Parts: sequence; structure tokens; C-alpha cells
Amino acid sequence: MPRMETADLDTDLSLFKYDNLEQLPERYRTLDEEVRRRRIDAAKAELGDDLVILGHNYQRREIVEHADFVGDSYQLSREAAESDAEYVVFAGVTFMAESADVITDDDQTVLLPSMEASCPMAGMAEALQVDAAWAELTGALDGDVVPVTYMNSYADLKAFCAEQGGLVCTSSNAADAFEWAFDRGDTVLFLPDKHLGENTAHDLGLTESTVTWDPWDPEGKEPSEVAGADVVLWDGYCQVHERFRVDHVEDVRERRPDANVVVHPECRREVAAAADVVGSTATITETVANADPGETWAIGTEIHLANHLDRWHPDVEVLPLCGDACMDCNAMRQIDPNYLTWVLEGLTEGDERNVVEVAPREKELAATAMERMLEL
Ligand code: 13P
Ligand code: SF4
Repeated sequence: MPRMETADLDTDLSLFKYDNLEQLPERYRTLDEEVRRRRIDAAKAELGDDLVILGHNYQRREIVEHADFVGDSYQLSREAAESDAEYVVFAGVTFMAESADVITDDDQTVLLPSMEASCPMAGMAEALQVDAAWAELTGALDGDVVPVTYMNSYADLKAFCAEQGGLVCTSSNAADAFEWAFDRGDTVLFLPDKHLGENTAHDLGLTESTVTWDPWDPEGKEPSEVAGADVVLWDGYCQVHERFRVDHVEDVRERRPDANVVVHPECRREVAAAADVVGSTATITETVANADPGETWAIGTEIHLANHLDRWHPDVEVLPLCGDACMDCNAMRQIDPNYLTWVLEGLTEGDERNVVEVAPREKELAATAMERMLEL
């Protein structure tokens, strides 16, 4: 009996899919999987303790099987902080590699296998744009505003938050970050993901006093529409998670009344409200790992994680929440294993390729915003 309800879901599902192997030398573009695996293993063996490979849960199978640690963005930033390896190869997206650079020592080097791996949601809140909105917002709000940025943001925005007395959070500690901010001010400005912000505000009983700020709206909001808000949400979102609708949850419950539903908090509020469990990719992973044999779980997040869970837990039935419509993340999929081979073999030849380095002043401030989070 096929266990997944979709066809062979492994690597190629993004609606906005493109592959970019052009930055690679010709000889790396068409490596056979077996050959590639042997070459990656050989490079890892040669680099030994000088190397750590961190793999986000959304990476494809051919990447996670080479990672020393696989996890959510919070777990991986902790691993980066604790690692002594000279080279941290981050199989994830740009903001994660930047965060690893911020949090590691100066004698450690962070490399991102493909520089094309940029999260579109992080790009929805650029520090310059936020800086401009800040004056407007702080003028319109009655009390002190504390900015809280999701980890899915660039280092310059993390630095801005530190400068304005705020901090960073991930999807596993957003509620704690809001509480930290409320101890220091009256209103939280949450960036860039409005859905994670709305889900967190809901958990804290603040739905009624939450407003959304659309930085692209030329009219903007009237100051009176914002004044008195406890939470202001920047109008960013993740296209992979916005795709899930409450009908998907209803459909799965109708077809499979025994199924449980777990979703990521980047999903819309009504989807999160309809699910049994809402949490980060680590929570989703643990939920399925702790399920009893024979249980069925529908997964509302990026498709590669659903595929991994299906492979890792053959005694649990794993269903992608929206079946064939479930997406992979185009940013994450830029980490082609051929790029990983190229970066690792570069290191064995003394050539550091695709180094991610945050400018010193930004790094110092972003580190402050991230340390505030790690202390939560
Ligand atoms: P996690 O922090 O849950 O790993 O999520 C990161 C992410 O990019 C979700 O889209
Ligand atoms: Fe960004 Fe969404 Fe991809 Fe996560 S899944 S890295 S939020 S685009």
C-alpha cells in the first residue's frame, strides 16, 4: 500500500522552481549520485573535526544524509554557537548562514553551498524600509515600541532591532520573545511574518489588539488605526506556508477521521486554529517521532520534511496536508548536492568558496539581538 498520498515526492515540486547550476564549474554539474556521495564522504573524512555540516529540516534527502546536525533554525543556530569547527557549512538559506556567522567565533568560517538560497520572506522586510516605517509607527503609537524580528530576516534587520532595544526569535520561542518585549515596552512590532506574529499574539490573548501594517500600501494606515495596538504585524508571509487552507484540514479530517494534523506557525491563523499541533520544524519532527505505531499525521509544512518523516518513521502514516499541492521551498532547493561537493572539495584544496560574512558593526549588533534570544 503506498504510504504517501502523492506520487514519488522527493525533490522536484516547487511551483516557482528553478535550478541554478550555472555558478558551478562544468565538471560539477552532472555528478552521478554514487560518485558524489563518495566524494563528499572523502572530503568530510579529510576535513575531520575542522568541518561541521548543518542541515535544515527542509533540505533534500541527498543533503541531510551528509549533515552532522539536522534541525530547525533555532537548533542549528545553537549547534553553530557550540561548534569549534573551523568551517561551518550551512545547508540552509542565506539568513541562517548569516546568523551562524554572527554567532560563531571570528576564527570560524561559514559557507553556504549556493548563494542563490535566499528566503523570499526575509526579503520582505529590508532594514532600510523598516527604518523608514519605524519613524511613522513610533509617531503613531502611544507608548514605547519594541521590535522583534523572526530569525527569517537579514542581519541588518537583526542589527536594527538590537539598536532599537529589541531581539530575534524563532518559531519555537516567539511567545517568550513577545513577553520579553512587553517587559520593556508597550507595543511589539513583529517582522516579517504576519502569520507567525498573529499566531503568537493569539496564544498570548492579544488578537483584539493586533493590527497589520502594510509597508507597500501608499496610503498607509491612519495613525488612529494603529494607536493603542499591543502588536503591529509587518505584512510579510511565506508562500510555501500560505498555501495551506482550512479546507485542506477539513478534507483530511473527512477522508481520514483518524488523522491528526500538525502545522508550522507560518501557516494562516485559521489553519493553525484547525490543527491539533502547531510548532516549529523541530516540534513537527518530535510529534511524529513520538507518535504511536499506526497513528496517522498530516503535515502542514514544506514537503521535504514530510518526506523525511515518512522515511524516518515507517510505523507512522505520514500524509502531506495538501497532497500534490504541497510545495518545496525554492530557496532551500538551491542547495543542490553538487554545490555541496564543490564547496567541500574547495576546502580540501584550501579554497574557501561561498563564504558568508556579516559586516563587523552589523555583526556586533545582530549578535546582541540573537544573544537576547538565546537567553530567553
Ligand atoms: P523553523 O525555525 O521551524 O526551522 O522554520 C524555518 C523556516 O524557514 C520555516 O519556513
Ligand atoms: Fe523562507 Fe518559507 Fe522557505 Fe522558510 S519555507 S525558508 S520562510 S520561503
